[in-house]
Amino acid sequence: MANETLTITDNRTRLTYTLPITDGNIRSMDLRQIKKDASDFGVMGYDPAFMNTASCRSAITFIDGDKGILRYRGYPIEELAESCTFLQVAYLLLNGELPTDNQLHDWEDSVRHHTMLHETSKQFLEGFHHDAHPMSMFISTVAALATVYPDSRNIHDAAARRLNMTRLIAKVPTIAAYCYRHSLGYPYVYPDNELSYAENFMNMLWRMVEPKFRANPVMARALDILFILHADHEQNCSANVMRSVGSSQADPYSSTAAAAAALSGPLHGGANEEVLKMLDEIGSKDNVPAYVKKVKDGEVKLMGFGHRIYKNYDPRARIIKWTADQVFAVTGRNPKLDIALELEKIALEDEYFVKRKLYPNVDFYSGIIYQAMGFKPDVFTVLFAIPRTVGWLAQWEEMLTDPEQKIARPRQVYTGYAERHLTTEQKSTPQSATANR
Ligand code: CMC
Repeated sequence: MANETLTITDNRTRLTYTLPITDGNIRSMDLRQIKKDASDFGVMGYDPAFMNTASCRSAITFIDGDKGILRYRGYPIEELAESCTFLQVAYLLLNGELPTDNQLHDWEDSVRHHTMLHETSKQFLEGFHHDAHPMSMFISTVAALATVYPDSRNIHDAAARRLNMTRLIAKVPTIAAYCYRHSLGYPYVYPDNELSYAENFMNMLWRMVEPKFRANPVMARALDILFILHADHEQNCSANVMRSVGSSQADPYSSTAAAAAALSGPLHGGANEEVLKMLDEIGSKDNVPAYVKKVKDGEVKLMGFGHRIYKNYDPRARIIKWTADQVFAVTGRNPKLDIALELEKIALEDEYFVKRKLYPNVDFYSGIIYQAMGFKPDVFTVLFAIPRTVGWLAQWEEMLTDPEQKIARPRQVYTGYAERHLTTEQKSTPQSATANR
């Protein structure tokens, strides 16, 4: 609506200010004019953890957390998961529209063209300890790709940018698979470009001596759906890191590695691994009430529950449950599912969770499916990072091409000492303690 404004009265000075409201928001910089006196710096917003601060304008992903809605470029996640492939959705996120048949053909072709890792990257992987965490290897190897592609520093060149974005999307499954095989001591499997994105990934993970690896189509489709669900989630912790690091004009490999590092934490993408550990610790359905009591007593968190934005239900969790049924029809039911279902049932009825609007999030069920598919828990977060690379890159390019964006640089409220000076005694202390020895 035109001419929407907010009027603020500063009770310190009795002055009144009228700030424009655009798209329902005021600009924090408009607060700066509100000053006690001419020497005052002006009012800022104080918002630890960005609870109520928009850092950008974005046309990529829409979430209505109260209604449990998630849309990529306007399309409901449910429709995309049901009818599209991951590479179609990747194209949509990056370009704003679903591809035509020709565009899809070219896009799939260019992704296939870039799946190989440079042989030096293999040597790099060899240097990791045999029991290194796959996510740590993944983060480091993504960062190391910047050494292979120095042209990635040309971030203002649209063609160079797109080339390196495609390289990243094509190579993250290869890196992930190599990290996995390194931890098992198996030889690396080169990409097979006759296969789809998910099938090729499964081939690089699990092919042993057979000449051709054929993934079970139900499993391959389930993995593709999981990739779609994880592809983007607007300004979450890792997307914010991607934009923040990218705002210093770092190359996309360094920015993606930083975003992946943010994802690795247990409160973000690392939660899927933690859920499995938690279900192991609970052990059986009978122990669920005692565990819920521990959660309510503040001793532990219920991993895979709660979300900063969703206060109704995470729509991805609903699709994941449906996908789990398809996978379990092939693999047999993962016994952990019974514990998870009991946990969900008790938690959803309990006042503690109801009051705080805590619902299962995407990570609650994904680990159970991954485990049934044959993945070890320590690769779960890598499985999240592969598709999220697309979202990070879409966010990164949108940030770079947004004329309003600059290097990210939050303000602080300083709470330390006012100016003070060294005492005479401190001034006479030698600079180096070793000087006295
Ligand atoms: N178990 C028990 N209590 C919880 C949980 C949980 N999982 N999550 C939030 N709470 C409580 C929290 O203690 C607080 O209670 P109180 O008001 O009494 O202090 C209240 O709910 C509000 O929580 P918050 O910590 O202020 O919420 P937040 O928005 O800062 O945190 C979260 C969101 C996802 C980090 C948090 O819910 C959490 O730690 N969940 C478990 C980890 C997890 O599953 N993470 C994956 C998130 S979804 C996928 C992704 O982003 O990668």
